[in-house]
Amino acid sequence: MPTTPKKQNTSGPERKMLSSAEIKAALTTRIMGKSIHVFEEIDSTNDQAYRLAEHGAKEGTLVVAERQTKGRGRLGRSWYSPAGLGIWMSVILRPDLPPATAPALSLVAGLSLARTIEDHLDLNAELKWPNDCLLDGKKTAGILTELSAEKEKVRFVVLGVGINVLHQRADFPAGLQNTATSLALAARREIDRVQFLCAFLRQLEDDYQRFKKEELTPFLDPYTKRCGLIGARVRAQVGNNTISGRAVRIDPTGALVIARNREEIVVRAGDVERIR
Ligand code: BTN
Repeated sequence: MPTTPKKQNTSGPERKMLSSAEIKAALTTRIMGKSIHVFEEIDSTNDQAYRLAEHGAKEGTLVVAERQTKGRGRLGRSWYSPAGLGIWMSVILRPDLPPATAPALSLVAGLSLARTIEDHLDLNAELKWPNDCLLDGKKTAGILTELSAEKEKVRFVVLGVGINVLHQRADFPAGLQNTATSLALAARREIDRVQFLCAFLRQLEDDYQRFKKEELTPFLDPYTKRCGLIGARVRAQVGNNTISGRAVRIDPTGALVIARNREEIVVRAGDVERIR
């Protein structure tokens, strides 16, 4: 159900709900968010964006929800998406690029988010390959990129971003309280979700336009600078295989290169943890 701006009924501080009119008024983009769909509740903004894209929705179409009932993360995990506390959003992209370049878009979006956090909130954001954004060593945001392609052509990409914004510690389930944080917790102040969302979309648009022309090359240094895994000993879980070694770099396709003994292993997807 589309929303109109109203106050949310929670026990915490009174908070404005997201509205498409407010987002439109604060947006300074040319593509991202030119069409906006705001829902009070949806299964998953990625699923909704995918449905819209299959029906021809334009590049830049934005889907935002106050709450997701089936928010999804990578590797089949669920994504905790309570009402009124986060930015749960997906954008439809239609880059004229081969499908193999799509995973790199997750890295670009992660970097756009880190840059927005730094510029807007004056915090140091860490990127955890491939698509997590951390503050104070805890996860603040994750990115889930889904692709529809035919032969060698991308039909569309759904770029889903989940950002914990206003959560206090007790707002997270017990199992997440030690590993997750929010922008408000890290910045120690309330954050305006609309202003932050619009600043992020602006940064994402700039970075996306550059990515389409130059692919990942101009992003490798700024990504690596923020990626706590590079140079560290890591353990990567890739399907049923575990690879331990030193993370040495991100390659131009966005894969993580791990050095083990005298060989280099290119990891394209998986879960990676630092080890001692
Ligand atoms: C991850 O860290 O595993 C990725 C999390 C991605 C969550 C976002 S929330 C908005 C969009 N809709 C979803 O169902 N997932 C993404």
